[in-house]
Amino acid sequence: MRSFHKNKKAIYSYDEWNIIEDEFKIENNYRNETIFSLGNGYIGFRGNIEEGFAKKTEGCKGSYINGFYESEKIIYGEYQYAFPLWGQTMLNIMDTQSLEIYVDGEKFTMDNGVVLDYCRTLHMKEGKLTRYLIWKSPKGRNIEIYMEKFISLHNSHLSGFRLKLTPLNFTGKVKIVSSINGNVTNKNLRDKALITLDKGVDKNILYMMQQTKTTKFQIACGILHEIFINNKSADLQASYSIEEESVTASWEIDAEENSTILVDKFICYDTNRKHEKKDNILKNVKSDLYEACKKGYNKLLNQHERYMKNFWDNTDIIINGDEALQQGIRFNMLQLLQSTGRDGYTNIAAKGLTGEGYEGHYFWDTETYILPFFLYNNPDIAKALVMYRYYTLDSARQRAKELDHPGALYPWRTIGGEETSAYFEASTAQYHINADVVYAIKKYYEATDDKELLLNYGVEIVWETARLWADRGGFIPLRGNKFCIHEVTGPDEYKAGVDNNCYTNYMAQMHLYYAVELDDFMKKEDLEKYESLRKRLELKDEEVQLWRRAAENMYLPYNEELGINPQDDTFIYKEPYDIESIPVERLPLVFNWHPLNIWRYQVCKQADVLLLMLLQSEKFSIELKKANFDYYEPKTTHDSSLSACVFSVIASEIGYKEFAYNYFMQTARMDLDDYNNNVNKGVHTASMAGAWMCIVNGFSGLRIYDNKLHFKPYLPDKWKSYEFKITFKNSKLRIQISKDKVVYRLMKGKDISFYHFDKEVVILGENNQQSFFE
Ligand code: BGC
Repeated sequence: MRSFHKNKKAIYSYDEWNIIEDEFKIENNYRNETIFSLGNGYIGFRGNIEEGFAKKTEGCKGSYINGFYESEKIIYGEYQYAFPLWGQTMLNIMDTQSLEIYVDGEKFTMDNGVVLDYCRTLHMKEGKLTRYLIWKSPKGRNIEIYMEKFISLHNSHLSGFRLKLTPLNFTGKVKIVSSINGNVTNKNLRDKALITLDKGVDKNILYMMQQTKTTKFQIACGILHEIFINNKSADLQASYSIEEESVTASWEIDAEENSTILVDKFICYDTNRKHEKKDNILKNVKSDLYEACKKGYNKLLNQHERYMKNFWDNTDIIINGDEALQQGIRFNMLQLLQSTGRDGYTNIAAKGLTGEGYEGHYFWDTETYILPFFLYNNPDIAKALVMYRYYTLDSARQRAKELDHPGALYPWRTIGGEETSAYFEASTAQYHINADVVYAIKKYYEATDDKELLLNYGVEIVWETARLWADRGGFIPLRGNKFCIHEVTGPDEYKAGVDNNCYTNYMAQMHLYYAVELDDFMKKEDLEKYESLRKRLELKDEEVQLWRRAAENMYLPYNEELGINPQDDTFIYKEPYDIESIPVERLPLVFNWHPLNIWRYQVCKQADVLLLMLLQSEKFSIELKKANFDYYEPKTTHDSSLSACVFSVIASEIGYKEFAYNYFMQTARMDLDDYNNNVNKGVHTASMAGAWMCIVNGFSGLRIYDNKLHFKPYLPDKWKSYEFKITFKNSKLRIQISKDKVVYRLMKGKDISFYHFDKEVVILGENNQQSFFE
């Protein structure tokens, strides 16, 4: 493990439930905007400073809607056959966050005057953000400012914002300006994407409606304010100004010393995206806002907090003995919740809804890393993620056709379902995404017994994507007629266009076997549906037989001499390279070495064979896992944030506890401590879910074989205890691991049997438990 991957100094003070910034430093603005992001899976706001800055400051003002994107033509130096033509970018949408405050004509900003007291807090338990400060204006007026914000998890279209002002040493005029600004754009789009269709003020609601130029999606937003002075509703008339791309309201208030001015601001967005067929989104926005205002800020916040409570009740992991890691894991779980789409038509981007890195694209990260976190805690969200692949199956069919393949090929990077990556070596070539999607469906069914989803949607995906493997690989005479898959890129993007990537072949084999198994299963379960689906897909017995033959004869790389699984046909023959000798400033290699140099050495970007050891754990002995770990660990730079967590999980399994803990630390606090110096562009959602895997699959050893949970828990040396919950087949189990005891408790649901090491454990009835002593 490279020394610079050891735990870094904390940026935010350790606190179990809060992320606190207690000193404002403008140079950290860009990074803090990500860390203090809020979201609800539909709307995402970066933690922008509402009032802006007096000086030009580095940052990215950003509000996003999941699945709301614009397409631009990709510009190629050299275009080749079947390269995708269009990119997609999750759009930065109209800004409703800005709010200016003037104190007797002096404009409040954090870089003007003096900030006497300051604290910004992300309250992870409640899912809200607050900022408290006392500002001394250049002319010496002191004012106390408190802001509070949440994006409702109860009503996905709504956000609430509260501003409280108290003049501390003066009586004078306080002016508040709140606006919708439609003149926004993304950092990496060539053209401005949104055209304003309508804007104005309607019975105190500021509103705006825009449309994207190419995708023709529409978005409407509105803001409604309520003002209270000394706790009494103030009937103040706002002055409005309507410009080409903005609508503004301002209030001038005669404020007395020590009085309180409170502004409640309700914000609403509605959209007409690819999958939505809505008539009048502006009307929806207005009626949602009246409704919200009638309910009042406190009630809206209560509803949101109830959702959060329920989320933590299902999901929380408690670590006793390490505050830093406790904070890290909670931050990760919160950001995952905030970023994930739940409507079946949207998904979770590599950077969530927190930034513009990776243009808001969804990757295999969802199925391989993130889905387990939801599946074993909040299976409804996992279901929505699976359904996303069903709703985009037609685009996957289209992509396969473009590449002259039968069946379906899922895109490596997308929002709407189409492949959008211009760099095929590390995208289209990653055919393994088909198997990753199927693996997730298989796991979903295993954990939920949801036959309805499997038979109505899952089987169709599994079969259509299996067709691609049958065509993409071939029986190679000089390999003893084994089924080989050539010219692919495995998970490790530092080895592109290789033959027989070990991960890909094993995953394709699992996929093909599953496709065959489902043929039998569906026939037995629902003959009518089975026949109708086979007819619709024109699936013949010969095809199913070919799937079986390909799976049975799959070429599975193993090298006797080294006693390991070679990552692909050529990896072990490449020139070795001492990765410890690479200076930190030359990392990540992807930005500092030419691809040809990256490809020629035994250097890996991320877990590849080791990831397979986790996903198909039962197929590999502990000795083989150890041999693979020893072989690949010194060759891996972990330039991808998807890597460290997998190394941690396998290290736990093979008894390399120090490795397991160190890799876990950098996973759990990757974004909070900004390990890769790029959190300004957004959080790393796959790694965030990877932190959950380090605990659940790593320290507690959870694997699922033969439809049963198998635990092999241990307690990391530095901890006093830890606990988490797992929902499996409608039973919710709590597992508490301390120095001398492991306690399994059935919290909810039906009787359950599982394994603690080699011992079968049965718990009958809710609130019963079984304990095991050291
Ligand atoms: C990784 C991919 C990952 C992508 C998005 C890349 O750096 O190599 O495996 O899917 O980031 O997170």
